[in-house]
Amino acid sequence: MIFGRRQLRNVAAALALATQGPAAGAAPQAPAISLVPAPAHLSMLAGDFTVDTSTPLVADRGDPGAGRVTAYFAALLRRTSGLTLTRRVQGDHAIMFRRLRDPAATGREGYRIAVTADGVTVSASQTAGLFYGAVTLWQILTSSKGAAPRVTVPALRIDDGPRFGWRGLLLDSVRHFQSVAFIKSFVDAMAREKLNVLQWHLTDDQGWRLEIKKYARLTRVGAWRVPAGGQSDIDPATHRPRLYGGFYTQVQVRDIVAYAAARNVTIVPEIEMPGHAMAAIVAYPRLGSVTQPPSAVSSDWGVFPYLYNVDDRTFGFLEDVLTETMALFPSAYIHVGGDEAVKDQWKASPRIQARMRALGIADEDGLQSWFVRRIGKFLAAHGRRLIGWDEILQGGIAPHAAITSWRGIDGAVAAAKAGHDAVLSPAPVLYFDNRQAEGPDEPSGRGKIVTLGDVYGFDPAPASLSDDARKHIIGVQANIWTEHIREQANAAYAAFPRAAALAELGWSPAAGHDPAGFMARMPAEIARYDAFGLPHGALTPNPEAPAPRTRDSHALKPCSDAIVLSVEGPVPAAGQRPVFLHDIMNPCWVFERADLTSISRITVSAGRLPFNFQIGADAQKIALRPPATPNGEFEVRLDDCNGARIADIPMPAPGPDEALVSASGAIAAQSGVHDLCLLFTRPALDPYWALHSVRLVPGQ
Ligand code: ACM
Repeated sequence: MIFGRRQLRNVAAALALATQGPAAGAAPQAPAISLVPAPAHLSMLAGDFTVDTSTPLVADRGDPGAGRVTAYFAALLRRTSGLTLTRRVQGDHAIMFRRLRDPAATGREGYRIAVTADGVTVSASQTAGLFYGAVTLWQILTSSKGAAPRVTVPALRIDDGPRFGWRGLLLDSVRHFQSVAFIKSFVDAMAREKLNVLQWHLTDDQGWRLEIKKYARLTRVGAWRVPAGGQSDIDPATHRPRLYGGFYTQVQVRDIVAYAAARNVTIVPEIEMPGHAMAAIVAYPRLGSVTQPPSAVSSDWGVFPYLYNVDDRTFGFLEDVLTETMALFPSAYIHVGGDEAVKDQWKASPRIQARMRALGIADEDGLQSWFVRRIGKFLAAHGRRLIGWDEILQGGIAPHAAITSWRGIDGAVAAAKAGHDAVLSPAPVLYFDNRQAEGPDEPSGRGKIVTLGDVYGFDPAPASLSDDARKHIIGVQANIWTEHIREQANAAYAAFPRAAALAELGWSPAAGHDPAGFMARMPAEIARYDAFGLPHGALTPNPEAPAPRTRDSHALKPCSDAIVLSVEGPVPAAGQRPVFLHDIMNPCWVFERADLTSISRITVSAGRLPFNFQIGADAQKIALRPPATPNGEFEVRLDDCNGARIADIPMPAPGPDEALVSASGAIAAQSGVHDLCLLFTRPALDPYWALHSVRLVPGQ
């Protein structure tokens, strides 16, 4: 639903009117009502209405959808404001949930709210709209700080509906596994921001997480792996590595899907093919393209070369898997991945080359296109639509397929021009595994910083698209990949509050785009997160200024930015896992503006990390530096990495449970302020030293 400029001026004016408190010279004012995402049309009116425990909640008894929404609303309010309301058949000065007779009046997800001195009415044509009306009314009632059993709200009128139909988050439950309770809490948090699609990443190289009855080995074998850095995850009882993994049973999946549906969240399962298929190939080697299949599910990150083969029997397997998947997930779309399928194994396999020639297909991109078309036909025959990452455009896109554009938005532009639907999910701005702020308190993730403001600044209606093509942009999605997000709480932290900015891009009209207004509405949203115990990043991150002489890796600058990650190290005997920020292609750090006057020593704390990254031939680009002592040395160079070596400190070997080791040594006397280049010698790719912190020590 696109709203005209005129209506939007009304919203801006209404939000300005809704601002409370003294004006001139005061701190930025919080609006009287803080709605996220902003509604399409809001008018503030004269008068107000007070809600307290005597306010009746009224919904038509003959309308089960309205009944469920009323109960959901009451639960939200009870949780966050201490107000307990009771449902009644009728009553004066009530909050009423009312279905409109015209089933199309507000669209599927739209709704209206009227607050007058006589009460509140939420109305909508469809249950989804009533649900969003309930969420907005709850936000209206929780716009100011503190829980009160009595809330006065200004009279107003809202007429609202979404800009896009697909407002999504992707959660990667493969690289690290989350509990059923966490997935439900994540869905709840999405629903409170009117996000309506959870793309659930369930299969990949590092695990298969969906129970498939016909192929038990997918989860019996494919769901388990030896964790990275095996030495520290040894079970002291058995002296064997503890296996890491898990999967979702079909009973659990049905429960999660129903839970999400009740919150207007559609779960779109992602079953990856033809690449990101290693866990399945470990479980069933006959599915693979090489005669030497992988022997174990790996805990390396990156892109593996293992692809499914193109035998009819393999399609039989995939169709069986998709049949069970479709029985669990009623979504119109089924996501089949299609990304990062490096074709080396297809090129090297005489059997696959022979099949390609027999099919009259010119190259491996064409073969992938044929593969995806064949799966697309199967899904279409079962009333579903295929969606895949933008690589499915290569070699020709399957009829009626939609794409998720992640390598920028070029894929979406190409798909839309060809008449195909596209979801915008470009890296890095909508890759929420990127850090959202600097500072040692940020959990692990990709090293690039994508702030809340960066997300809010993303334009989902690029000028490069004609009006016709723009109609094929069906929405926006942000992805939470979990290679470097081991703890489920950190997956929520990565998602919020940036998901609020995404929600506003996906829901609110473009002409109402208002970065300052959004930020002014966010403190109330953060308070709602806190009321639910939802982990989240800070609104205005204030990284602790590094002590001038002691700096954590997050307060240093990577020397380069090829693949900057903030990765967790091994488990220490006690305490938290240390986190290390560095460019894995070049573990080297700049200590900026070090005052070296009277500094005589330097102490380094470092971890020896496994090089568990599948980066193909790029690994050869990593410079090794021959060490002079058994465990290598830590070096400090003056001004830049080619400068004079002013410290050269042999590293000790880490003990069995030591996540960090320290070393200390002399630093050649200098005066004044200099940048320092910090690096380690390295005999081989794996393992390697990553700096955790350094300390400049004064002395004689
Ligand atoms: C992706 O990030 N490989 C879709």
